[in-house]
Amino acid sequence: MLLEVKNISKKYNNGNRALADVSFALEKGEFVSVIGPSGAGKSTILRAINQLISIDEGSIRFEGAEMTRLKAKELREQRRGIGMVFQHYNLVSRLTAIENVLHGCLGYKSWFNGVAGIYSKEEKERAFDLLDKVGLTEFAYSRCDELSGGQKQRVGIARALMQQPKLILCDEPIASLDPKSAKMILDYLKKINEEMNIACLVNLHQVNTAIDYSDRIIGINHGRVTFSGEAEELTEERIVQIYQSTELFV
Ligand SMILES: Nc1ncnc2c1ncn2[C@@H]1O[C@H](COP(=O)(O)OP(=O)(O)OP(=O)(O)O)[C@@H](O)[C@H]1O
Ligand SMILES: [Mg+2]
Repeated sequence: MLLEVKNISKKYNNGNRALADVSFALEKGEFVSVIGPSGAGKSTILRAINQLISIDEGSIRFEGAEMTRLKAKELREQRRGIGMVFQHYNLVSRLTAIENVLHGCLGYKSWFNGVAGIYSKEEKERAFDLLDKVGLTEFAYSRCDELSGGQKQRVGIARALMQQPKLILCDEPIASLDPKSAKMILDYLKKINEEMNIACLVNLHQVNTAIDYSDRIIGINHGRVTFSGEAEELTEERIVQIYQSTELFV
């Protein structure tokens, strides 16, 4: 098992209850989507996995390590295995595509080399190869603020790959894109998933897209898992249950 999330709960400081007793697991190389209405807790799950936020209860094991108990240095090492792709790309817009991709290996570098932007020949070659993999060779030296949304997201994917992850967490990677670009991004994610055996955990708002691309789907509502199964098991009735559940926190 690559990732095991067991009985996690989270209440934000302002009292918002975001997750209640959530459990699921991901095997190596699986493509799993998380669906559910706005406010269900999808982003909170992803943030908890790489410990951008702490959880109140439960366990998160990634490659056997208990993420919730790691010291800062161990957490930094463990996070190398987890890439992130965001809805709004989170690129440094005044830097070029290649520079943004190189940022993906900052977790492997000394503070000084990172700040000074000192990268090895091997790292630069790898960054170019990854831009090539997402079809952006000719944009390597373009500033990111000159790229389209779909191109920016491809830079975001290449940056995530630069850290040689075992898992990529994608928080609504296509929510800001037109349908054509959205399809392209998901096709790239699927290709990476299949060719590089990198697991993907993807928050999505589009149920049909989740069905088309995922090995498995997790439905959540009000911070609880309301569905977990293969795409074929996700009947219309179950979709309604996921989106219209009125269950309240106890
Ligand atoms: N930083 C925060 N502080 C306080 N409450 C928060 C914070 N982030 C999220 N919440 C609350 O936690 C709950 C789950 O939010 P979360 O962002 O995980 O949902 P989501 O499923 O990602 O929604 P969306 O589809 O709109 O992105 C919501 O009630 C939300 O208001
Ligand atoms: Mg969200």
